[in-house]
Amino acid sequence: MQTLILPSLLAADFGKLETEILRAENAGADAIHLDIMDGVFVPNISFGPAIVKLCRETTKLPLNVHLMLARPDSFIEPFAKAGATTIQIHAEASCNIKETLQQIRSYGISPAIVLNPLTPYTAAIPYLDLVDEVMYMTVFPGYGGQKFMAEPLPEINKLREYANANGFEKLNIMVDGGVGRSTIAQCAQAGANAFVAGTALFSQEDMGAEISLFKNLVNQK
Ligand code: DX5
Ligand code: ZN
Repeated sequence: MQTLILPSLLAADFGKLETEILRAENAGADAIHLDIMDGVFVPNISFGPAIVKLCRETTKLPLNVHLMLARPDSFIEPFAKAGATTIQIHAEASCNIKETLQQIRSYGISPAIVLNPLTPYTAAIPYLDLVDEVMYMTVFPGYGGQKFMAEPLPEINKLREYANANGFEKLNIMVDGGVGRSTIAQCAQAGANAFVAGTALFSQEDMGAEISLFKNLVNQK
């Protein structure tokens, strides 16, 4: 599986977003992760389609849009028009999940399902034929800079085994939250191949060196 590293823009300096987006691109990021929060599904508000559009106009990198929204189904079109490459919705959201994943695909965008840290991996199974990616939260969503939770690791392991045994060998399994040099190897060991990191990457002066270190840690697992 290809190793993918996705800097989360939530941890960037919002006073110079274009510079920060280009810094991630030049550091060798595989995509940019964009955290959208509605203050209902999670206890925080972040940004909306205008920032996704700014990213689209600034970089050619894929844009991985993580919708932490109670009703993601009402917002697929604006994020599609803003230039999302992937749209991730939570299995815990209050909408018809299958229809929303199909709605995402209908815009030519790659759909993904997200599970909160304590949601069992089996919650993703009904959607595996509709998605290209499953993301496990390794923190409760809402804020950057939180401490990594190890509880999802056995579930990630079971999800990877299930995927391999049932014809989903190409499934990307992503982790999000508290990922950095001290936690990335255990995520890879459990079966994740794609890694979101906000604080651990944007806090580095040399983001490129940190991304290389991450990839080495994943390959040595
Ligand atoms: C949390 C977000 C994450 C966040 C990760 O709700 O989904 O993407 O930006 O930040 P770090 O890597 O700092 O934990
Ligand atoms: Zn996220």
